[in-house]
Amino acid sequence: MSSINKINFSDSKLGILGGGQLGKMLVNAANNWSITSFILDPSKDCSAATVCSNFIIGDFKKYEDVYSFGKLVDILTIEIEDVNTDALLQLEKEGLLVFPEPQVLEIIKDKGLQKKIYDKHNLPTSKYILLNNKEEIIAAVNEGKLKFPFVQKTRKFGYDGKGVAVIKTQEDLAGLLDGESLVEDLVAIQKEISVIIARNRKGEVAIFPPVEMIFNSAANLVEFLLSPANLSKEIEKEVIQLAIEVSNAFQLTGVLAVEMFLDKNNKIYINEVAPRPHNSGHQTIENAHTSQYEQHLRAIFGLPLGSTKLISPSVMVNLLGEEGYSGQAIYSGFEQCIQIEGANLHLYGKKETRPYRKMGHATVLDTSIENAKKKAQIIQQTLKIIS
Ligand SMILES: Nc1ncnc2c1ncn2[C@@H]1O[C@H](COP(=O)(O)OP(=O)(O)OP(=O)(O)O)[C@@H](O)[C@H]1O
Ligand SMILES: [Mg+2]
Repeated sequence: MSSINKINFSDSKLGILGGGQLGKMLVNAANNWSITSFILDPSKDCSAATVCSNFIIGDFKKYEDVYSFGKLVDILTIEIEDVNTDALLQLEKEGLLVFPEPQVLEIIKDKGLQKKIYDKHNLPTSKYILLNNKEEIIAAVNEGKLKFPFVQKTRKFGYDGKGVAVIKTQEDLAGLLDGESLVEDLVAIQKEISVIIARNRKGEVAIFPPVEMIFNSAANLVEFLLSPANLSKEIEKEVIQLAIEVSNAFQLTGVLAVEMFLDKNNKIYINEVAPRPHNSGHQTIENAHTSQYEQHLRAIFGLPLGSTKLISPSVMVNLLGEEGYSGQAIYSGFEQCIQIEGANLHLYGKKETRPYRKMGHATVLDTSIENAKKKAQIIQQTLKIIS
């Protein structure tokens, strides 16, 4: 690849490990600049397959697949953490530009190692211990070393709450998960907040305004995202400061999503980070001067970062597969929803629907969060993904 100021984007080959919806939106941003994109994913029907320049079928968890994919591109990034970092380390050693940096990715992939970074840098996070399996957790409870309530998280491979168990009673112990775990205090959550911060290759940073994530407890998924979050000036300042400190602690190039809890006493805790574009940044496509996807590209290509200023308040709603339906997806109510002023619908192109599967999202822009929320709720009630 030529030097950064002389980049001819159509000559630079961007590789992305993973072809899910985040990969698709990242490719969409790359397409604006005519960057040649390569996607590696095990499924030929993945969301990004139809928009990328080159689709390679393969397993991003396998050394050989990632290594040979890396040989096809000039710069390599991810849309999912659970990738083979040994191959990335080797590719980096051989001179490939890999962002986020594989060493940092290895730490973030493991929720236990991630927590140690927060400790090392004196960053506030829920108190925790690391245990090897559920038997050790039960033993710790029996010995009185571990008190209810607590939260168990598998150290690796968790996503969308799938590696998380909230244990409040003796009976809940039956729901403990297998494997190496992080066990931490349950936080009395007032709000869940996410801050997306980008760091480019020069170490310059840019921060999007904090967003508030509202969860659907049945699906254990984010249901609505409010941008900007409704926070007092002081808390907002504190949250932004913390995001900068977290970004400094990891020193990674690209976009970093910092998930935080605000507890009932207005104390802030860092929950976890994601070293890539994140679902809590979908709304930036329409409601910010620069989208998180373009920001990620700017950061990894060593370009100046874009303005993170908001154009409008917005509410994002996830479009989930309807309960009780599995099979070829049908989108009912689409025509009504696209007539709502300020509504931007994104369908991920997943062929099969399943209950609560993330099939798309809608970002509604309006003059206030309240108005946008009302429209988002109408979309949620009107657009049904069935089979
Ligand atoms: N210590 C805690 N106290 C209270 N609730 C918690 C705690 N840890 C996690 N949770 C709840 O569980 C959710 C999922 O946890 P976490 O973000 O660690 O898992 P994940 O599977 O990586 O999530 P995702 O992929 O959705 O970001 C949190 O958003 C929060 O609602
Ligand atoms: Mg999370």
